[in-house]
Amino acid sequence: MVIDTVERDEELAALAAQADWPSPVRVHSGDAEGLLATLGSYELIFADAEGGKWTGLDRTIAALRPGGTLVVDDMDPARYTEAAHLAAVAEVRRRLLTDPRLIAAELPAATGLILVTRRAFA
Ligand SMILES: C[S@@+](CC[C@H](N)C(=O)[O-])C[C@H]1O[C@@H](n2cnc3c(N)ncnc32)[C@H](O)[C@@H]1O
Repeated sequence: MVIDTVERDEELAALAAQADWPSPVRVHSGDAEGLLATLGSYELIFADAEGGKWTGLDRTIAALRPGGTLVVDDMDPARYTEAAHLAAVAEVRRRLLTDPRLIAAELPAATGLILVTRRAFA
């Protein structure tokens, strides 16, 4: 098992890499959108960055194994006032909730969570 985490801020990534992580954890410095295709596929993904959620969502879904789980936060539209932000959250929500490869559930908790499973046969 590996646990990959990606941070594009080099200084922050270097700081994170210094922590005493258990051996499965690998801290990568770089753009998650670019690295996703090279890292492999995952049983669990938490899309917690701009890249891979607001942009490059397709790459995140592609990296999700059949039966795997994707957790997406910041999905409560009530958190946003600017039109551009509302449009962005509407688009991510639409894609997660209507993609035939996925089964998605909205959880009205914290910042608004969408929990997604990739169908095993899609
Ligand atoms: C909401 S913070 C989450 C940080 C960390 N997961 C945590 O819980 O402390 C988002 C982080 O994603 C990083 N980030 C934004 N876009 C990224 C991208 N395309 N690739 C990698 N990291 C990115 C930012 O630099 C920022 O540190």
